[in-house]
Amino acid sequence: MTEAVERRTTVDAAGSAAPGPIGLHGGVARRRLLFAGLAAGIGIAVSPAVRAQEDAPGADERPQKADLLVFAEGDRAGEVIKPDDLPLGGPPVHAWPMDPKSRVVRSGSRLNELLVVRLDPAEIDDDTRARAADGIVAYSAICSHAGCPVTEWVKAESGDKEVFKCACHNSEYDPRQSAEVVFGPAPRRLAALPLTTVDRSIAVAAVFVGKVGAQQG
Ligand code: FES
Repeated sequence: MTEAVERRTTVDAAGSAAPGPIGLHGGVARRRLLFAGLAAGIGIAVSPAVRAQEDAPGADERPQKADLLVFAEGDRAGEVIKPDDLPLGGPPVHAWPMDPKSRVVRSGSRLNELLVVRLDPAEIDDDTRARAADGIVAYSAICSHAGCPVTEWVKAESGDKEVFKCACHNSEYDPRQSAEVVFGPAPRRLAALPLTTVDRSIAVAAVFVGKVGAQQG
């Protein structure tokens, strides 16, 4: 069978976008979430309101403590994410951090793309729990292998839990274990973003833990 190959956006260490190949493997009876933005051929679909902020001061800065998280795509793009917006057990949503004072969405760098998912606190390990807010965890959405956007939520190759998957070369990351690599060529886990809740919204508790994307060294 011929493997479908599509062009996708990959991201270098500086956050610049460049086209790259993705092989999509069909015929596998596994639950798969293919985010709408990937179907559009880019990392995520960005609303006009969010896109207009990409050049604003602070839009390309990494997430800061007290930033709020907002939806990155769909009808609610730019809206602050509340814990109740996230179904227990996934699927994850794509998000951007937003400066709570200036309201600037930090969408000016692809390295700020986030995956946010609500997990059963009983299923997550101690390190993950320490960074979670009521079971809600956030990770960089940029793969540590070659910088593709991580776009899928599938049953793990080994085990019965759903995990993040990068469709470029099939790396899988378990969000219950600090997004450790559980399958594929990725050299290290996804960077984690510690969370808290403020006024019933999800907020950043500290800067990224770990290297973001395919940075070397
Ligand atoms: S870029 Fe190769 S597995 Fe993600």
